[in-house]
Amino acid sequence: MSFREKYSRIARHYETLEKPLDRFFCPLRKKAVSFVKGKTLEVGVGVGKTLRYYPNGVELCAVDAVPEVIEIAREKARRLNLNVCFEVADVEKLPFPDGSFDTVLSSFVFCTVPNPERGMREIFRVLKPGGRAIFLEHTKSDSVLLNYLFLLPLKLPLRLLLDDDPLRKTHKLVSKHFEIEREERYYRGIVRLIVARKPVGSKTFKAPSP
Ligand SMILES: C[S@@+](CC[C@H](N)C(=O)[O-])C[C@H]1O[C@@H](n2cnc3c(N)ncnc32)[C@H](O)[C@@H]1O
Repeated sequence: MSFREKYSRIARHYETLEKPLDRFFCPLRKKAVSFVKGKTLEVGVGVGKTLRYYPNGVELCAVDAVPEVIEIAREKARRLNLNVCFEVADVEKLPFPDGSFDTVLSSFVFCTVPNPERGMREIFRVLKPGGRAIFLEHTKSDSVLLNYLFLLPLKLPLRLLLDDDPLRKTHKLVSKHFEIEREERYYRGIVRLIVARKPVGSKTFKAPSP
């Protein structure tokens, strides 16, 4: 079963399942959103847990590969009186021209994206030169002990439930493509907030072929 089928099945229960983690992760979502400026794209918006942190008047587009979660996010935006353009889209093949956005934000998405290199290249492509990419992601810890004792035992259940790989080195992938402005490590690097920039004057990758 693909991540799309898994998320579409649990969409209505996602917030309840994640509730115990909210007091740890929601303040980090709020902090990630505080770095957003200008025309913004959020990839993998899910049920819209970041939406309440955006200021009114932000020019925001949000995509996710799963229609059922987008519908919940759409309802949430309506309640918050936020004007968001939602689209069902894969971060590996974004339906936007090169250099469309000042900021792209991803919150707990790259642990699931099937081909993270492709997703990263797409974020790079749709950003304007000098634009910001913000990542709040589950990542492999800097502590070998934590990786073996905590993340490795979590890997199988998370993979089965959500296609989530908690041992991904997304921070390395970000630094391969972007200039890092700031990297904050939480819980010994199990979660990282990375603020990065597409270098001014950098070449743009071609959109992936269909
Ligand atoms: C763990 S949830 C996080 C949702 C939200 N960003 C948050 O902070 O709560 C991961 C989300 O990423 C989406 N996702 C995973 N891979 C994707 C892809 N390749 N393209 C678009 N969305 C994707 C999933 O459908 C899911 O909604």
